[in-house]
Amino acid sequence: MPRQLFVTTALPYANAGFHIGHMMEYIQADTWVRFQRMQGVSVDFVCADDTHGAPIMIAAEKAGKTPQQFVADIAAGRKQYLDGFQISFDNWHSTDAPENHDLARQIYRDLRDRADGSLIEVRSVEQFFDPEKNMFLPDRYIKGECPKCHSKDQYGDNCEVCGSVYSPTDLINPFSVLSGAKPELKSSEHFFFKLSDPRCVEFLEKWTQDGKLQPEVANKIKEWFSVRTNPDGSKSEGLGDWDISRDAPYFGIEIPDAPGKYFYVWLDAPVGYLASLKNLLTKRAALEGRSPDFDAYMANPELEQYHFIGKDIVTFHTLFWPAMLKFSGRKTPDNVFVHGFLTVNNGEKMSKSRGTGLNPLKYLSLGMNPEWLRYYLAAKLSARNEDIDFNADDFMARVNSDLIGKYVNIASRAAGFLTKRFDGKLTSDFGAAGSALLADVRGAGDAIAQMYESREFGKATREIMLLADKVNAYVDQNKPWDLAKDVTHNQALHQVCSVLINTFAVLTRYLAPVLPGLASAVQGFVGSDMTRWQVAGDVQAITPYQHLMQRVTPEQLDALFEPKEPLALVESAQEATELIANIPGGEAIAPVVTIDDFAKIDLRIAKIVNCEAVEGSTKLLRLTLDAGEGSDSQGQPILRNVFSGIASMYKPEDLVGQLTVLVANLAPRKMKFGISEGMVLAASHADGKAQPGIYILNPWPGAQPGMRIG
Ligand code: MSP
Ligand code: ZN
Repeated sequence: MPRQLFVTTALPYANAGFHIGHMMEYIQADTWVRFQRMQGVSVDFVCADDTHGAPIMIAAEKAGKTPQQFVADIAAGRKQYLDGFQISFDNWHSTDAPENHDLARQIYRDLRDRADGSLIEVRSVEQFFDPEKNMFLPDRYIKGECPKCHSKDQYGDNCEVCGSVYSPTDLINPFSVLSGAKPELKSSEHFFFKLSDPRCVEFLEKWTQDGKLQPEVANKIKEWFSVRTNPDGSKSEGLGDWDISRDAPYFGIEIPDAPGKYFYVWLDAPVGYLASLKNLLTKRAALEGRSPDFDAYMANPELEQYHFIGKDIVTFHTLFWPAMLKFSGRKTPDNVFVHGFLTVNNGEKMSKSRGTGLNPLKYLSLGMNPEWLRYYLAAKLSARNEDIDFNADDFMARVNSDLIGKYVNIASRAAGFLTKRFDGKLTSDFGAAGSALLADVRGAGDAIAQMYESREFGKATREIMLLADKVNAYVDQNKPWDLAKDVTHNQALHQVCSVLINTFAVLTRYLAPVLPGLASAVQGFVGSDMTRWQVAGDVQAITPYQHLMQRVTPEQLDALFEPKEPLALVESAQEATELIANIPGGEAIAPVVTIDDFAKIDLRIAKIVNCEAVEGSTKLLRLTLDAGEGSDSQGQPILRNVFSGIASMYKPEDLVGQLTVLVANLAPRKMKFGISEGMVLAASHADGKAQPGIYILNPWPGAQPGMRIG
């Protein structure tokens, strides 16, 4: 019987496109899954959008959509990333799908109605309530003055200035980020999952400490069973109970027998793993004309269940989720595989929601090969949950020198001779050295398989590149290009080239979990099955060699990281919707500058003495400005000509006579319509398409042309 695996990646929040950190998780899991499939293991690999919760509800409202429409729009954008990076999910579903509503509610009932005593408890909780929005406020939607250092505008749970941790009720002059209203304390019934119950504690201590988890993960979890510091600074012993309910309005799943109460998003999110699987089984059964049996599938004692996740969501997956499954009478995961965070170009840990400068869609749109990234990440990944960094120079070196220089070139060096001189046919007489080399390369298969199995992809690729080094040493010893000069060496040439193509075929099989597209191209080229790990016999013949992979160019990397490409802007605007609470104007605050940096920019009050439309442009107005620069030798006032993209907002006659702000020392710029001698300041949202409007600055009365601003 082949092994049967059920594998997932974390369900991404349905509030934005994917960032490169998401893609890393999918690539890691996909590589492992493809390896398993090559071993003949049967794998169901699923994911879904995590759709519920207050942030998505609020983002949808801002976008003028229903939450359902909002998450559907996000879901529609997933395919381009997943296909683009060759992620082989069997199903993509949604936590708002009927399967998830049913399963979450059933799991809850099973926990509540346990014969040996309920694990659900109702308690009254005091919480801040927004009287204008008519909703309870999550901590991050409350701001106020820090009770310790009195900094203004701090979040409800901690102060970003002095770092102190408190509860929202400690804030001075709290206000709702959503409405600005003063929140009121209100009590409400909340539902708790009693994780502190001895049954849960005993089970979880065993489940987390029995050796299956990564050691660094198990150690971290251990802390949760002992003394813990609460957000308010007090200490508590052991596991606390988990608040699993939220009050309406909430985009989520209604709790059975509790109208107006919804599951907290993290209760139904992991249930989405099961819902997606169930949906897959239903669709598959329909295709095969039989009735689906999710329960039988899950009841299979041989079934192995694995979740790939990042290190920030370990507690949900190693405490709450196994306990939910166990005490609702269901199968618990066989393991949870935790990876670290991806950073980019030594950047800081990227913001979970904003990502970094490495935009996956931009990567693809530049024509960059997705397998470069798959290979690069594989080369850096291990079974540990350490962070890894995407470094542009390192990326180029590994792809160009290792992947192409050491491996792909083996094929290109041999193929031409075989096609031209031997009609594409290979010999199975490899000679002593060739046979030994081939045996060496083939013999490494089990060790490399073990590395894949244990998610040591970096070790696997290193091992494969060492084998490639040996093959290249064989090339250098036998010099096919020299052999080819003299027909009396024909047999030797045939031998050497046949050895090279055979080793290349084996190396390709070893790399196939990482490079599925390349492997399938090679399958066509050498005519042997690349979807099985086991060696399928010697290569008999090749078809003419087609270029298998281009090199990365520095220009591509420059373009990839060049800021403010249109695509990046669209993405950041989309992401801005979810970050409404802390990104004013739709873009993050720029990096810190010193006062000296600021002083380099000379801002002056200027009077708009004339203003006219620009023929041939719908966007620009031509401004004539008096910045108090006096008169020239003829006694004419020195005026500036400045073009400004504000025609959509202002009529020229409205601006004449107004004061505004001029960047007076900006280098003059030649434009289609003339030279622009400076720039006037105007405010706009980062996403001018979604939130149009550009507003020119206007000083308070009393300011005179020529006054400096600072
Ligand atoms: N919706 C929850 C997960 C629910 S699972 C039942 C969530 N979503 S997320 O979109 O924020 O993150 C999805 C996955 O991406 C998580 O495993 C997270 O750790 C991972 N990553 C987010 N940023 C990442 C990096 N910078 N690097 C690597 N993985 C990252 O959490
Ligand atoms: Zn403070």
